[in-house]
Order: sequence, then C-alpha cells, then structure tokens
Amino acid sequence: MTYAAITGWGACMPPAVLTNADLSTFLDTNDEWIRTRTGMRERRVSHVSGMELSVVASARALACAGLDAGDLELIVYGSCSNEEAVPNSASGVQAALGATRAAAMDVNTACTSFLYGLTTATSMIRTGIVKNAVVIGVELISKYMDWSDRGVAVLFGDGAAAVVLQASDTESGVIGSVLGCDALARKTLRVRGIGVGYSGRDITIGDTKWDFDGPAIFKRAVHAMSEASLRVMKEQGITAEQVDLVVPHQANLRIIESVAKYAGLPMDKVMLTVERYGNMSAATVPVALVEALETGRVKPGATILMPGFGGGLTWAATLVKWGDRVTPLGTSDRSLPPCTQSALEMINAIRAAQDPHGRSAAGLSTLVAGAFDG
Ligand code: UT7
Repeated sequence: MTYAAITGWGACMPPAVLTNADLSTFLDTNDEWIRTRTGMRERRVSHVSGMELSVVASARALACAGLDAGDLELIVYGSCSNEEAVPNSASGVQAALGATRAAAMDVNTACTSFLYGLTTATSMIRTGIVKNAVVIGVELISKYMDWSDRGVAVLFGDGAAAVVLQASDTESGVIGSVLGCDALARKTLRVRGIGVGYSGRDITIGDTKWDFDGPAIFKRAVHAMSEASLRVMKEQGITAEQVDLVVPHQANLRIIESVAKYAGLPMDKVMLTVERYGNMSAATVPVALVEALETGRVKPGATILMPGFGGGLTWAATLVKWGDRVTPLGTSDRSLPPCTQSALEMINAIRAAQDPHGRSAAGLSTLVAGAFDG
C-alpha cells in the first residue's frame, strides 16, 4: 500500500500587522467587540502577491523535506483569491521555483481549499499518478475586501503555508478524509466581484461586495465541522481520546470552541492562531499546522484532526497520521522583499482606490499588478 507522507512544511506570513485599534480608525468597531465576538486581536496584510507568499512558503517546505524543486511532480494551489484565473496560480509558483517537471493545478473551495487540495494530492500519490506534491493554502484577502463593511472587514487576514507530500510505504499522511458542501446555503457567503458574473449589473469587475450572513454561517459551520469530525473519526476507528492534536479552520474562536465541545475534543488539544492571524481562509489550517510543528506540538506518530469549512458552504475533516520526523531536514534562504509600509497605510491605499460602492477596476488592477509581475 502506498501512502502520502507529509515530509516538509513551511509558512510565509507577511510582516505587517493590522490591529483591532487600526480597524477602529476607519470603521465603527472596537477592540472589545472584535475580541469577544471572534477571539481576534490582529491579522496580517501582505505587501506582495499571493503567488509570492506561496513561492516562499513552498521553497521552505521543499527545503524542510530535502526535495529539489526539479524533482517535484505536482503543485496544488489552494486559494479563492487568485490574482488571475488564466494562467493559473500554480503555474506561477512552478516557474518561480524552477519546478519544471511539476503538474500545476489550482483548487478553489474557499476556506477549505487546502484540505480539498491535500486530499486530491494524497489520492494522486496513493494511486501512483505522481510520487510527490506541494500543497499550498494561501489567501490575499486584503485586496478583495470591502473595507467599508465592518461585518466582514474585521475578520480576515493574509497568509500562506505549504506542505510537501511524498510516496511512502509506511502508514502516514492523510489516512481519512470526508468532504462535502452545504450548497443550499451557498448564498450566505458570497463575494460579488471576484469573477465575471456581476459585470454590467450591480458590480464592475474589480469591485467587491460581500454577502455575508454571519450568524447563519456560524451555525452551519459548527454543525458541518462537528459532524465531519465525528464521521471521519468513526470511519477510521479513531476515538476523540486518540486524537493528539486538532488543527481547525480558524474563522472564530467561538466556532472552534463549539466544535471541540460537540466532537468531544478538549480545547487543550486544539492549535489556535485566530488571535494573531484572524481568518486567513485557505491559509488558516496549513499555517496553524506549521506553527504546531515549529512549537513542538506535533509528536512523532501523532494523530491530527483538521476540520474546516468555507464558502460554498464547503466543509471537510481530514485525519492525518504523522510520521517519525518532526524537524526540518533543511532550510531555505528564500524570503519576502522588505515591507516599507505599515498595514494601516496599505489598507488606506486600498480604501482610497475604492469608490463608495466598492472598488474601482483601475484601482484594484494597479494595486495587484504592482505587487507581482510573474
Ligand atoms: O471562514 C469563512 C466563514 N465565516 C465565518 O465562519 C463567520 C461566521 N460568523 C461569525 O463568526 C459571527 O457571526 C460574526 C463574528 C461574523 C458576527 O458575530 P455575531 O455574534 O453573530 O454578531 P451579529 O452579526 O449577530 O451582530 C451583532 C451586533 C449587530 O448590532 P445590533 O444589530 O445588535 O445592534 C451588528 O451590527 O454587532 C454588530 N456588529 C459589529 N459591531 C462592532 C457587527 N459587526 C461589528 C463590528 N464591530 N465589526
């Protein structure tokens, strides 16, 4: 039997920090509301593109695995905030890494894109189609945010992380995965303006307007993540006591606490990043996984549960059995260019390019194109 062991991991967090106090300089909000309703204190704002974050994260993951980019066979780019649809973003990462032999595909299931991508790449390795893969979870939400809407603008942040999977004879990597979609609720989370569907109607390409029914998403998220977690554990014959670490999607601390309670998982087994990074959509789970490794919370042979949900409303719960190695084989010297602006200065520049009803197409393309020419 072939497995797809996770042999490398790396994150790339943009350095600029946007605090709750920063948000309250231009929104009718405050630190107390954000902290008590979401558990968030700060989030990151990227000065570079999602592809650039991904290249650094992937290079770090490859070095950690001791795998040359030239030997890589598959890149899966999990995101819903791609700079372009054609060419896809995975191809941009392939070019920048020099991974000339790698197939390159994007996966968009919103916040669950990393988990869907991890399951896809695992399946391709387990069926012998490829021998290794990089799976990326990345999001550059700041460029697509409606910064006039306090109901969503306080919740999200930018970030990226990647893992390397390699074929192995030893049982490790993803051992179970359940995936689904609560499509009847698809309109409870919709970003109007990413894609062409609204051009010429209420939104111009490049503008965004968020439909976001927070309380409805909250309830469905708790239900979907809890049920998926219980189902994947049952299918694999794993009890809650046998789960060593939970690395959940981090949209709201209260959602995570509810899921943990419902699924019988104590909070001291849960890896949390929501306070420092907010909701990074597809990047949330892999960034938390990398931080769990870097802080010694992943032990050799650990059983890790990773539940998630997002727009669609897609949901997933993935069970991973960790291998023997929890330390990197090597490091990469790839890093981001210096950031010369504060997070608030970058957000104010985006806001200045937005008209009262959304973002002007010219403003958005200047901001995005200025960040990446790959
Ligand atoms: O990963 C993507 C999926 N997204 C999610 O999982 C998000 C799920 N939903 C949530 O996390 C929560 O529903 C929110 C954090 C978005 C909102 O929390 P809530 O406790 O459900 O608040 P609410 O929407 O019911 O709003 C309560 C009050 C309202 O005022 P009134 O009508 O009671 O006077 C809102 O207008 O809070 C107000 N409010 C705010 N006040 C200060 C909403 N946003 C803010 C804000 N600052 N940023």
